[in-house]
Amino acid sequence: MDIKFDGKRALVTGAASGIGRGIALQLAKGGARVIALDVSEDQLIKLKEEIPSLETVAVDLSDWKATQETVKSVCPIDLLVNNAGLGEILALTQVTEENYNKIFNVNVKALINVTKVVVEDLLNRESPGAIVNISSQASQAALPNHTLYCASKAAVDGFTRAVAMDYGPKKIRINAVNPTVVMTELGRRFWSDPALSQPMLAKIPLGRFGEISDVVAAVLFLLSDHASLITGICFPVDGGFLAC
Ligand SMILES: NC(=O)c1ccc[n+]([C@@H]2O[C@H](COP(=O)([O-])OP(=O)(O)OC[C@H]3O[C@@H](n4cnc5c(N)ncnc54)[C@H](O)[C@@H]3O)[C@@H](O)[C@H]2O)c1
Repeated sequence: MDIKFDGKRALVTGAASGIGRGIALQLAKGGARVIALDVSEDQLIKLKEEIPSLETVAVDLSDWKATQETVKSVCPIDLLVNNAGLGEILALTQVTEENYNKIFNVNVKALINVTKVVVEDLLNRESPGAIVNISSQASQAALPNHTLYCASKAAVDGFTRAVAMDYGPKKIRINAVNPTVVMTELGRRFWSDPALSQPMLAKIPLGRFGEISDVVAAVLFLLSDHASLITGICFPVDGGFLAC
């Protein structure tokens, strides 16, 4: 399937490493003008050295006002990937207000904030658009000591459906992609211990964790016109984990 994004401007959050970096690189290869947003200026510099055609912007997404200004400054945006996210291994009894705010500010509040700015831009221009939110299998299944992470990703799925309903009539599509474990920096923090990773692997019918390329393929499809009748879905890229 030939997927091209010529003439489109695409914003990817958390684009300096891991899954976001993979998405940004492939969107650029597909012809999009990519704006890579991240909090890590050092990583953004490395990314820009690798692909000079990328635009890079540094902002801490947990800062509502700074994020609004930054996203407005890179509009117009036709394609958005809300990828930035973080998590911690925490049981409920270990949860503090500080780690609640840290996780929800990025995984939920920032995702809503960035989407709001981009949707307002699309509505003002009376332009169609496509948005993909990177959720997780943890939105729909309990994972051990993932209290805040599971809750935050369930919020991402609910937000995705609500926005899909409201803005479908304006030809703005929004979907979620829900990956299983991918051994990025975040994935390693959760799953490096074989005592945790082996039982998880055993629950995946296809018998392997995800690669960045598995997630990228799903995201590019949902952003593309090949998915022009698809909105409001949560698309597992999980080797069958959620089916069991
Ligand atoms: N890796 C996995 O196993 C896995 C599984 C399912 C879902 N996901 C989701 O995929 C997405 C990407 O995860 P990843 O594994 O590539 O993680 P990662 O840690 O490798 O990359 C996350 C990127 O987000 C950026 N970021 C974090 N906080 C930010 C902030 N406040 N402002 C701006 N940028 C910020 C980081 O600097 C980093 O570049 C996340 O939403 C994550 O929840 C990951």
